[in-house]
Amino acid sequence: MFDSLRVPVIAAPMAGGPSTPELVAAVGRAGAFGYLAGGYLTAASLAEQITTVRRLSDAAFGVNLFVPGIRSTVDLSAYVERVGHEARRYGTEAGEPRWDDDGYSAKLDLLVEARVPVVSFTFGLPSGSDVDRLHEVGTTVVVTVTSPEEARQASELGVDALCVQGFEAGGHRSVFTDDPDDPSGGPLYGLLAGLRLCSAVTDLPLVAAGGLVRGADVAAVVTAGAVAAQLGTAFLRADEAGTNPTQREALVAGGRPTAVTRAFSGRPARGLVNRFLREHSDHAPAAYPQLHRLTKPVRAASGQAGDPEAMSLWAGQTYTLADGGPAERIVDRLWDEAREALRRSSRRFA
Ligand SMILES: Cc1cc2nc3c(=O)[nH]c(=O)nc-3n(C[C@H](O)[C@H](O)[C@H](O)COP(=O)(O)O)c2cc1C
Repeated sequence: MFDSLRVPVIAAPMAGGPSTPELVAAVGRAGAFGYLAGGYLTAASLAEQITTVRRLSDAAFGVNLFVPGIRSTVDLSAYVERVGHEARRYGTEAGEPRWDDDGYSAKLDLLVEARVPVVSFTFGLPSGSDVDRLHEVGTTVVVTVTSPEEARQASELGVDALCVQGFEAGGHRSVFTDDPDDPSGGPLYGLLAGLRLCSAVTDLPLVAAGGLVRGADVAAVVTAGAVAAQLGTAFLRADEAGTNPTQREALVAGGRPTAVTRAFSGRPARGLVNRFLREHSDHAPAAYPQLHRLTKPVRAASGQAGDPEAMSLWAGQTYTLADGGPAERIVDRLWDEAREALRRSSRRFA
């Protein structure tokens, strides 16, 4: 699937607003590949988005789903209290910290019925029977991994490709199990190390994700053996992205480091450092999606007030180098830069 792309670039699924049918269609028109983000959406709104992508473009596209995890039984009362204070500060009420499976089965049924070309899974492995159902309708199945051990498990399941996510990546880390004793949720591999170690345990095609923002980075990971580069942050400021305006402003302003935190959702994710992240990260339990639901009204109120200090500002380490503009122009530039970087580097190896 990915080795036939004219441009070996994938616009990453970005749940919570940034991924839109318009973004997916635009990168498809430019010869790259786009994912819709199925996480947090109802099956009905995901179905609408799939219909819109198909109306806007003939290019192949993918849909990403979050695999439901184990329900944490950790005591949340102290964190509920903290978020309650935040909610009062923003004139709202904290959300109900309940667990759910994000409507996973209904969305999977939809994807089988809609015969979506590619389905990728994050936060764990789908069941073998779900992989079989997708294969029966001709869907390519991808699993995101963060370590060689996860790559081994995914490859034994019989999926078609892996997305190797380095620790540089923006948004949630795709660790299969979030280790509560580890602030990062599991071992941290930089992208090149992760690619190399994963390629030692599997022959599956590997997509590379994490911190890739310029064409030279795309050329670098393809040279290192990846079939394509998956970029999230590089598309966050695209015209077609549905990124929250307050987050866009924070990205443009720059000046903040990024860090991995559970403070907003209960699962480790990388974003720009703000007050909420600084004050609550050390207290946040590993309880996804309970914390996601608990903090949702606070994040929304903060964004609406134009205040970036209590929203999740997910972005990768290289966010200051990402540009705005039409997505097709971003893809064209990545392509031109990649070719130029290869021309220059090939002289060094001639
Ligand atoms: C705002 C945002 C939302 C994301 N949402 C998802 C998601 O829904 N599913 C997923 O598999 N990965 C998600 N990711 C992670 C990307 O798939 C990818 O690993 C990451 O963007 C790569 O790092 P980069 O942002 O530095 O390019 C998200 C990333 C960002 C920045």
